[in-house]
Amino acid sequence: MKPSIFPHVLLAVFTTTGTICGVSAAGYNKTDSTPTFQLSTDSSFNFQYLTALASALTGGSDIGPVLGAAKNIKDGDMNSFSEYFKKLAFDTKAEAENPENSYDPINVRDTWFSTSQYFRQADFYLHGNWSNPLIHSLWSEQTAAFDNALKSLPVPGKRIRIPAKEGNFTIEAIFYGASNRKDEKLPTLVIGNGYDAAQEDSYHDFVVPALARGWNCITYEGPGQPTVRREQNLGFIPNWEHVVTPVIDYLVSEKSNLIDTDRLVLLGNSFGGLLAARAAAFESRLAATILIDGVWDTYAGFSQQLSPELIGIFEAGNYSQFDQSIMSLRSAGKLPTNAAWGIDQGLWSFNTHSPSKFLNDSKKFRLIDVVDNIKNPVFIGDAQFETFFQGQPRKVKQSLGDRATLHSFRGVAGYHCQTGAGQELTRAIFAWLNETLRNRDY
Ligand SMILES: *[C@@H]1O[C@H](CO)[C@@H](O)[C@H](O)[C@H]1NC(C)=O
Ligand SMILES: *[C@@H]1O[C@H](CO)[C@@H](O)[C@H](O)[C@H]1NC(C)=O
Ligand SMILES: *[C@@H]1O[C@H](CO)[C@@H](O)[C@H](O)[C@H]1NC(C)=O
Ligand SMILES: *[C@@H]1O[C@H](CO)[C@@H](O)[C@H](O)[C@H]1NC(C)=O
Ligand SMILES: *[C@@H]1O[C@H](CO)[C@@H](O)[C@H](O)[C@H]1NC(C)=O
Ligand SMILES: *[C@@H]1O[C@H](CO)[C@@H](O)[C@H](O)[C@H]1NC(C)=O
Repeated sequence: MKPSIFPHVLLAVFTTTGTICGVSAAGYNKTDSTPTFQLSTDSSFNFQYLTALASALTGGSDIGPVLGAAKNIKDGDMNSFSEYFKKLAFDTKAEAENPENSYDPINVRDTWFSTSQYFRQADFYLHGNWSNPLIHSLWSEQTAAFDNALKSLPVPGKRIRIPAKEGNFTIEAIFYGASNRKDEKLPTLVIGNGYDAAQEDSYHDFVVPALARGWNCITYEGPGQPTVRREQNLGFIPNWEHVVTPVIDYLVSEKSNLIDTDRLVLLGNSFGGLLAARAAAFESRLAATILIDGVWDTYAGFSQQLSPELIGIFEAGNYSQFDQSIMSLRSAGKLPTNAAWGIDQGLWSFNTHSPSKFLNDSKKFRLIDVVDNIKNPVFIGDAQFETFFQGQPRKVKQSLGDRATLHSFRGVAGYHCQTGAGQELTRAIFAWLNETLRNRDY
């Protein structure tokens, strides 16, 4: 079998039709599939460096250290990546702990936010071996570093644990107030990630731009996501409303003096675009939903990454052969990093050692069953160089019809989740929210 799973084919899937309501095209060049300078010959590493750099925009890293990592880490070597970021994280932590650093809350939060980011990067490629103690120890470090930073924000962020009502799990959340006043009801963004990112990443991607515009935020994690996966040993569940509804209940009951209940907006990032849309179908209290980007059918996206021979074995129901083929490709170390990481992270976050069980479970994550129940206005991002869910944002748009706005992100803003173009992404989101909520018939 050729190691051809996850061929790194980048499809440019857009046309300019009347269904597109917004287009961003700074730096747009439709013939170029790698629109930015490549920081690694390994496309997965390039993307990770871009995520780390992007976070500098909102105080989550410094540019020199990330470019230093890109220079020194061996391309495609996951251990080298982890080791380098681990050292960078501990070095930055030592700076954060230097007593001379603590005279100023801005120093404190810059160093601790960066420390936390570098620990998350050090963890990113480790999930192939569940026994690796670093999966837990580096995460404790990232959490502790992040909490030190949270405390030094002008309005300190607060960790909250919300018990689920359906299912035996606890939602991990952080509430960020946009105002110190105790009686100002502000619009509020509810933010969730997908397959791999942490709620700590959401602070840099969405919370900072939202707070700056006078929005409160709550970020959350459910089963399958970093802290819940580790502390409660739970993989992804398809009925994501069991995660989001308790978060909305919490806001409405515990934060009623701070939130404008007519302007509660749900945002889902990456695979969270599917999870948020699913939850929105069960939640009537939302004024709008934002999908970064749109995801229609998880199994369709994942199975397109596999070679026809492999998917044939799976679909014929020969699960033992399928598992053996995938795991031997993985352990032979011949897969491109994207594919190796995709398998490691998928098995870990769905909490199974069986690729066929993972793929089978992914079939339950689809919108077709619930899309008609989504009643609020929806913003759907569509990235030109999307790797997993090419073409799916357009399907979500077609199914939602007038309820949705499809926004095409092209060129240098065209990576998965608009990584590296945080300004363009959040400008588009908040401009749409301003327009949509203004026109809303209360
Ligand atoms: C667009 O990208 C292609 C492929 O990299 C390159 O050959 C071409 O010069 C670029 N065009 C512009 C106008 O930058
Ligand atoms: C996984 O990690 C454990 C603990 O570090 C180690 O003992 C074991 O050899 C590793 N397994 C593989 C397959 O690398
Ligand atoms: C709920 O989960 C906790 C922690 O994972 C476990 O100790 C407990 O037995 C579970 N309770 C039920 C009713 O399953
Ligand atoms: C599964 O595949 C293996 C290897 O190709 C083959 O030997 C076996 O007969 C197949 N099993 C079934 C039930 O098709
Ligand atoms: C796939 O899912 C179906 C329905 O949920 C189940 O009956 C079947 O046993 C699953 N197969 C595997 C390999 O997990
Ligand atoms: C839209 O933006 C204007 C100008 O900043 C602001 O006054 C208004 O409150 C915003 N409306 C909504 C619904 O966010």
